[in-house]
Amino acid sequence: MNLTTLTRFAISAALLAVSATLRTAQGATPAELLAGYATQGNTAPSAKAGQQFFTKTQGREWSCASCHGAVPTQTGNHASTGKSIDPLAPAFNTERFTDSAKVEKWFRRNCNDVLGRVCSQTEKADVLSWLLTLKP
Ligand code: HEC
Repeated sequence: MNLTTLTRFAISAALLAVSATLRTAQGATPAELLAGYATQGNTAPSAKAGQQFFTKTQGREWSCASCHGAVPTQTGNHASTGKSIDPLAPAFNTERFTDSAKVEKWFRRNCNDVLGRVCSQTEKADVLSWLLTLKP
């Protein structure tokens, strides 16, 4: 192996390692995300608390249910634009809670709309544990 081949080899190995890291950082299952929130929040998730959190308003105009529906197993409608929103419960939409970057982006945005702050890890764990109880 000459030096150029060796350098090429080293670069492609490094690129492979980087893309593998990026993939594991983004790709996830709902169960893995739930485990992460529960560990970070240091609580056992409560589906009951999650349901209450999801359906009540918390000082602002909207609740989570305003856009996603009280039981988010069906298509919801955005409270201000009227745009349809695919079901949030993973059993009814297999794309949900599989991309951690997307999940975090929307938690940040939606929690801010509903609570005027980000959601705690405990609140995320509660909501997701409730969503996972929703089955066809
Ligand atoms: C004003 C309307 C609105 C409200 C209120 C709202 N959402 Fe959403 N939510 C959306 C839209 C729009 C998307 C992105 C479009 C899509 O993914 O279908 C989304 C996506 C999400 C996602 C991304 C899930 C994934 O993996 O695709 C999560 C998680 C979420 N919302 C949780 C919540 C929670 C929790 C609340 C209450 C704190 C809430 N939302 C309130 C409109 C809303």
